[in-house]
Amino acid sequence: MTNAYQGRRVLVTGGAGFIGSHLVDDLIQRGAEVTALDDLSSGYLKNLESAGDRMAFVKMDLAKDDMRPLLAKQQFAYVFHVAGHASVPASVERPRLDFDCNALATVNLLEAVRDSSPHSVILHTSSAAIYGSGGDTLLREDSAKHRSLRTPSASWLRSITWRSMPGCTGFAPPFCGCSPLMGRASGSR
Ligand SMILES: NC(=O)c1ccc[n+]([C@@H]2O[C@H](COP(=O)([O-])OP(=O)(O)OC[C@H]3O[C@@H](n4cnc5c(N)ncnc54)[C@H](O)[C@@H]3O)[C@@H](O)[C@H]2O)c1
Repeated sequence: MTNAYQGRRVLVTGGAGFIGSHLVDDLIQRGAEVTALDDLSSGYLKNLESAGDRMAFVKMDLAKDDMRPLLAKQQFAYVFHVAGHASVPASVERPRLDFDCNALATVNLLEAVRDSSPHSVILHTSSAAIYGSGGDTLLREDSAKHRSLRTPSASWLRSITWRSMPGCTGFAPPFCGCSPLMGRASGSR
């Protein structure tokens, strides 16, 4: 199998979180030079213990800090954007915090990549909400609602190159293959 990550520099935002830390481990296994970025607002450094000194860690808040110097220096081949706050109840209780961490932080990242590392491929976790609620149908990467995000109507997504990680079923479509990853810390301190 072709390994697109061997020897490539890869950034994982939210790298100390649930999905991000497992992604870091997987990318290291694939031979990538990994940098994990996180503000540790809900993630934990202990999630990165298995990666140890095989990756670099940068503490940074995407909503406030300027990523351009890091991006300009590293010229990452791939940027996995996994940072965010996932709690729906928290988004209702504290919408401003939710907006900063999810919407503003994402726009900041996209702008910084465009300015300082325009060749980076950006991948994002999206949301389980794209599948709707209810039903007992097994979800797959080519399930209809996931595919609909690639239509021209989703114009704001056009600037992002969407690619699934080869062999990693736990990434692009939320929930697919997540169960083997359980057991790692996630959530608010
Ligand atoms: N876990 C799932 O099943 C699932 C399903 C669908 C979508 N998602 C999405 O995937 C993403 C990650 O989910 P998770 O379960 O790994 O959550 P998580 O809380 O475990 O990880 C998110 C990480 O992002 C970091 N972070 C938050 N705001 C930041 C900021 N401004 N700057 C830098 N780092 C910041 C947190 O400290 C944390 O380590 C979220 O956007 C979530 O909505 C997750």
